[in-house]
Amino acid sequence: MKQKILALLKSTQGYISGQELCERFGVSRTAVWKAIKQLQNEGYQIEAVNNKGYHLVGSTDVMTKEEILDKLNTKWIGRELICYKETGSTNNDIKRAAEDGAGEGLVIVADTQNGGRGRRGRVWQSPPGTSIAVSLLLRPDIRPENASMLTLVSALAVARTMNEILPGACSIKWPNDVLLHNKKVCGILTEMAAEPETIHYVVPGIGINVNQEEFPEDIRDIATSILIETGKKYDRSAFVAKFLAHFEEEYGIFMETQDMSGLIEEYNSILANKDKEVRVLDPKGEFSGIARGIDMRGQLQVELETGEITSVYAGEVSVRGIYGYV
Ligand code: BTN
Repeated sequence: MKQKILALLKSTQGYISGQELCERFGVSRTAVWKAIKQLQNEGYQIEAVNNKGYHLVGSTDVMTKEEILDKLNTKWIGRELICYKETGSTNNDIKRAAEDGAGEGLVIVADTQNGGRGRRGRVWQSPPGTSIAVSLLLRPDIRPENASMLTLVSALAVARTMNEILPGACSIKWPNDVLLHNKKVCGILTEMAAEPETIHYVVPGIGINVNQEEFPEDIRDIATSILIETGKKYDRSAFVAKFLAHFEEEYGIFMETQDMSGLIEEYNSILANKDKEVRVLDPKGEFSGIARGIDMRGQLQVELETGEITSVYAGEVSVRGIYGYV
């Protein structure tokens, strides 16, 4: 009933009286009022005016299961969808679901996380009403050493979505940051449960800055949001739906060969590090070189001073640009 009221409010220009809603759906005034309250709690701006009724005001940015499913045109990913208003960490939630036997394609989305995790034990902020925290459950039949490429596949799906919003502005900082105008708009934390030969599950967890107006002082120079770069708010449900569609397509391409061969050209064409000097923070010792792009295995090819090319594996090291963030 709540969804039917919402659909009617969306398709009506002016006000709809409480009486009309009661008659249409054969429910009491209290039931209508409760449904309106629930919708308002989800974030819909619904005006209630005496003697006129209810009216959905302007465009809204509500990230609910219904809004996402309404826009989703995937075959399998996100067809099982859980959407939280608040949670600790969507990666933790989906790992728990995976341990309980959930199937490939489950997606968990949260409006805000109070225990969001970033790479290298860092905290990831997902402020309410403005960001997206989304985790995917994958059970690929691939060798465990190939799983880190799923971070690159996820980054590419985010980048494709961003480039539809702001053509040409998006790039990827290998292996797991997505940038808008060279500032970080998205971070990815991929986790896996595996035995030496078998993967139980892989969880790419993606945090996207969508409608933040500003960032804390310490990250202001390196972080950005879609709103900051475009001057316009973006519908987070639409973003999730589009991202999942891109991911599904790219995952299919990846699984055919279990490497990056079908995606490498596109990936290298938007690689922010390409032909830039990078510092590789290898546990065995740091070194610098010029990044020349990824290879089929998703490894960054770094040209050393000697002219020799060395492969950098995503799971082992972190790469920092020497000049600025990229
Ligand atoms: C990073 O840049 O350090 C990676 C950030 C990853 C954040 C996402 S938000 C969804 C998922 N849940 C988490 O707790 N972390 C990831």
